[in-house]
Amino acid sequence: MAAATAMAMAMLAALAILVLLPSARGLDRAEFPPGFLFGVATSAYQVEGAYLEDGKGLSNWDFFTHTNSRGIDDGRNGDVADDHYHRYMEDLEIIHSLGVNSYRFSISWARILPRGRLGGVNSAGIDFYDRLIAAVVQKGIEPFVTLHHFDLPHEMETRYGGWLGAGIREEFDYYADVCFKAFGDRVKFWATFNEPNLFTRLAYVLGKYPPARCSAPFGTCDSGNSHREPYVAAHNMLLSHAAAVHNYKKNYQATQGGSIGIVIAMKWYEPLTNTTEDILAARRALSFEVDWFLEPIFFGDYPREMHELLASNLPKFTSEEKSLLQKNKADFIGVNHYTTIYVKDCISSPCDLNTYEAYEGNALVLATGERDGVAIGKPTAFDGYYVVPEGMEQIVKYVNQRYTNTPVYVTENGYSQYSNNTMDELMNDGERVNYLQGYLTFLSSAIRKGANVRGYFVWSIIDNFEWTFGFTVRFGLYHVDYETQKRTPKMSAKWYRDFLMGSRPTDQVQTLRADS
Ligand SMILES: *[C@@H]1O[C@H](CO)[C@@H](O)[C@H](O)[C@H]1NC(C)=O
Ligand SMILES: *[C@@H]1O[C@H](CO)[C@@H](O)[C@H](O)[C@H]1NC(C)=O
Repeated sequence: MAAATAMAMAMLAALAILVLLPSARGLDRAEFPPGFLFGVATSAYQVEGAYLEDGKGLSNWDFFTHTNSRGIDDGRNGDVADDHYHRYMEDLEIIHSLGVNSYRFSISWARILPRGRLGGVNSAGIDFYDRLIAAVVQKGIEPFVTLHHFDLPHEMETRYGGWLGAGIREEFDYYADVCFKAFGDRVKFWATFNEPNLFTRLAYVLGKYPPARCSAPFGTCDSGNSHREPYVAAHNMLLSHAAAVHNYKKNYQATQGGSIGIVIAMKWYEPLTNTTEDILAARRALSFEVDWFLEPIFFGDYPREMHELLASNLPKFTSEEKSLLQKNKADFIGVNHYTTIYVKDCISSPCDLNTYEAYEGNALVLATGERDGVAIGKPTAFDGYYVVPEGMEQIVKYVNQRYTNTPVYVTENGYSQYSNNTMDELMNDGERVNYLQGYLTFLSSAIRKGANVRGYFVWSIIDNFEWTFGFTVRFGLYHVDYETQKRTPKMSAKWYRDFLMGSRPTDQVQTLRADS
């Protein structure tokens, strides 16, 4: 009870801060710490295309979009996407022109190892990333590389049941090793997984991402168990992460001098009402989203709330696994943050099952964008994503406080537009400028108050294939005409460039390597 009251006080204090913070002030790159990474982000499946070129194997997404086009809003796929595989030099020119000092992208596992560990390494795949990384570094830009950004060789699904089978851990460890060996001399930032929490929820709770497994009341799939499988998949991802980090630290870190971490999708949650129940529900929502992955990585086991509510559906770590995890924590935490949402408790009074969203059902909380009919922020083209810049400061503080001040990189933050807006609306994206400015202002405020944040990446440099949304939404600073593949800077690209160029970008690039 005392703990609950203390928690309630802390959450009320957080609410008070939200109200008292000053509105957006002048934003200046010089206010950010020396060596701070400012960048843009993409992922392999969303931009590369060339889905069957130069020996690449089929990925889970190739298979899914080709066999289940109804699962994608516009029925399309990433076969061509932004054709980045052939146009990467042009894209790097664009990226460089903004004045960023880092570029976050992911490697396509199926391009490197078309059949996983049992087939050979695809040298043309290695060669593509070799050329890409060389060009990035040559421009004075720091590559920030993700190993698993939702795509894996389809053969992993057929051989192991994807992330449900323990055999995939060795596969991931092997894939990571091939990448460290091939690219680690130039890549100083490795992220093992991108948003494993969101991925497992969409793939195994809601059945919307491959392998599209789920059960009632969360969705209608041919097979699956939404109460159990997401936790099994997450368990295998956590142990895969630990294995790759262990290998990196043991065999590469001393000579290559890089760091390795993980990227988690993190909303901020505000209690819907002042009741202790809702305040605890907001806390629980964070546990089920963020601490689900970070507590095992930093402290060796899942959060208490998850043990209590999930009981035997939550897999157990052996004592050896616990120690493997704890000895191989992450060097940094990647935070993908876009929005804040209200949450309501569903333990004290049951919520309507049909309105449950995603994992929130297992956490017994209900997420909602409105309080008394008033939205928490302006809506965006992404359902359930509102513009709430204050949340950036809250989430960064939360992560720093719980995870012993481990360095944080904001690995994604960005704004979506509907593709069917007029060209004029798409290009004059003042809402995106306001969004980025607002979120960066609260990030800078967090840093001024002592938060250990080392970088910030806009999602995304170019419009791209947005998973189940297909091409119906656009996150790019640059507009892409998918007929001609022409890239055109939106107003937000010019804004980001002006912001970045405002304060001696050359100095920033030079201090970068010296600092790391
Ligand atoms: C919280 O309670 C105070 C009064 O105790 C009230 O003024 C305020 O509106 C409440 N906030 C919410 C979100 O319900
Ligand atoms: C634009 O697209 C969105 C989502 O794809 C859809 O909900 C909306 O109805 C469309 N609007 C128009 C005017 O076509």
